Amino acid sequence: MRSKGVFLVVLLSALTAYYVYLPIPNNIEERWKLMLTDSIFRSLSHLAELTEQLGLLDYMRVMMFITFAERVVPVSDDRVQVVDESFEGVEVIVYQPAQIEDTELKRAIIYLHGGGWCLGSSRMSPYDLLARHMVTELNAVIVSVEYRLAPAYHFPIPFEDVYRVVKYFLHVDVLRNYHINPERIAVSGDSAGGNLAAAVAQQLQQDSRNNVHLKVQALIYPVLQALDLNTPSYQQNQHMPILTRTLMIRFWSEYFTSDKSFFRAMMTNTHNNLESAALLKFVNWSSYLPDSYRRSYNYSAPPVAIGNNPVHSFASYSWLADPRASPLLVPDKTLRLLPKTYVLTCEYDVLRDDGLMYVMRLRNAGVDVTHEHYPGGFHGALMFTVWPTDFEIGRKMIDNYVTWLKLNL
Ligand SMILES: *[C@@H]1O[C@H](CO)[C@@H](O)[C@H](O)[C@H]1NC(C)=O
Ligand SMILES: *[C@@H]1O[C@H](CO)[C@@H](O)[C@H](O)[C@H]1NC(C)=O
Repeated sequence: MRSKGVFLVVLLSALTAYYVYLPIPNNIEERWKLMLTDSIFRSLSHLAELTEQLGLLDYMRVMMFITFAERVVPVSDDRVQVVDESFEGVEVIVYQPAQIEDTELKRAIIYLHGGGWCLGSSRMSPYDLLARHMVTELNAVIVSVEYRLAPAYHFPIPFEDVYRVVKYFLHVDVLRNYHINPERIAVSGDSAGGNLAAAVAQQLQQDSRNNVHLKVQALIYPVLQALDLNTPSYQQNQHMPILTRTLMIRFWSEYFTSDKSFFRAMMTNTHNNLESAALLKFVNWSSYLPDSYRRSYNYSAPPVAIGNNPVHSFASYSWLADPRASPLLVPDKTLRLLPKTYVLTCEYDVLRDDGLMYVMRLRNAGVDVTHEHYPGGFHGALMFTVWPTDFEIGRKMIDNYVTWLKLNL
């Protein structure tokens, strides 16, 4: 009886998710396909909320279904050799050209998958396909990092896993083993992977013991700051397909803590503490967004959570001000050390303004930045290259991204 009831609620929420959608903007291509894809995401998200409320399964455990549904076993073929490795105890998949031509040293890309630090895997078919494509197009070695995920492993563990891999891989001996040219190494990732890539690039350039430098960083619709969750793009796109504002805030709060009051504070943008508030100037969108994006919004600095409820002042949450979580929070002198940068942003993405602000701040600091903006783009599009959820725009993004790497790495 009870399971029937649960089933009914699930069915109803699926139907609601399907019918109660916000109109998808006209300039998004393949709108019906996106609506259907999104309705699957929404239904799963509703189911996850329900199971969490009933105390059956945590939200992210249910959402992990997306990761499992697309899981593959990456194997070698006649063009690409695939090996599971462990670098300093962290799982990685190494993709390299099957034909070893010792004469030419290869490029290398350390790739970090997306999924809000809570979901995703380098073993999902879109990432597997992307890595293979990069191997053959770029004659490159791809190291796809299977970093540990929140909420089981909160910040900074996912970041530290990635950083350990990068430091290990950049040893001269390791690079020689893989026939890699130390002057042609990139770090790259999408979404939360773009966050990790940006954070790693910053930490690496500041590390005096490091003597191999990155040639480029390539950030695909990256997450770059947790301080202001009411930027114009968060407001404009709060109900957009694939990544709603609520889901992004779930990811942020789960990355940091299991304290649900922090999630609720983030939802109202009242989560800053004194330490993070002092850094709000680095994410001030009234200074760092192009006029066309800020014109129709009024800026007000997020308030600091003090006073009324000292228990929830989050004063001890020092990770809120940590640039390894929010790479936008560094001063210009740190940005100046960064390599040539590629940033991809999408118009219909809550994270659009994180990317736009980073572009502006990096350029102000004198870094060479290529910015590709997709006016009809939505978050996660790069992942949608596999039937039946394949989108033309995802293929276009991959083509442009790989072309940029070909010319700049
Ligand atoms: C943000 O920038 C505006 C000017 O563009 C300024 O008036 C405001 O004080 C700044 N706020 C913060 C928190 O930096
Ligand atoms: C911004 O402020 C102006 C003047 O107070 C007001 O007329 C306008 O409606 C506000 N816009 C938004 C998006 O809140």
